[in-house]
Amino acid sequence: MSIQIVPIFDDNYVFILPFEGLAWVIDPGDPIKVSQYLQAHGLQLDAILQTHHHWDHTDGAVALKEKYPSCVVYTPYFQKGRYPVSTHMLKEGDQLNFAGWNFTVMQTPGHTYDHISYYDINRKVLFCGDTLFNMGCGRVFDGSYEQLFLSLQKIKALPDDVQVYCTHEYTLANINFVKSVSISPELLAFEKNCLQKRKQGLYTIPFTLGENKKLNPFLLASDKETFTELRQQKDRRS
Ligand SMILES: [Fe+2]
Repeated sequence: MSIQIVPIFDDNYVFILPFEGLAWVIDPGDPIKVSQYLQAHGLQLDAILQTHHHWDHTDGAVALKEKYPSCVVYTPYFQKGRYPVSTHMLKEGDQLNFAGWNFTVMQTPGHTYDHISYYDINRKVLFCGDTLFNMGCGRVFDGSYEQLFLSLQKIKALPDDVQVYCTHEYTLANINFVKSVSISPELLAFEKNCLQKRKQGLYTIPFTLGENKKLNPFLLASDKETFTELRQQKDRRS
């Protein structure tokens, strides 16, 4: 199993799963960086997986589909215009298999109405787009606070040792917010570790779900009212 991380724009990540000259690519917002990576590693694009319709996740899909016409494009189930090159619209429970990966589609709306995540139960890997972030969660755009709360609860029900691949490097800013809500020695130790990684040029993604279950206030919120208040508090800060 190999997951390659390609940073794009200011703080996005594209995830690439290579296997024997083929590749699956998750949320290719930037076609140039993704093409460069595929060419440099002699990979043929086999499939694009989209988590939601925001441009920084989807903008590469049209150009990549043109360059690799046989590639399949998996997208959420939504109005056709949102994903002009979609070949397969996915719903809860759909299965995708590639190179030993066995993904189950989880509907995780809230950040957007259509958001989905890809979970491999055997490899304990979750690609959750902009739903859960390391020590934070996505903003509510065209979804609702209730949907996002329920989606996070759904992710929280997964095993502690799941490795979470979210799409933005927001961790240090998220920790700053968490410190203003509830500070603890565990949180400070977590922050120190993340600061060290960033100083070394490393990513704070993936992260272990279990650690976030203990420290991420958006996962700890016990009901939708508490969650909504917290999310709105964060919106006012950033
Ligand atoms: Fe987004």
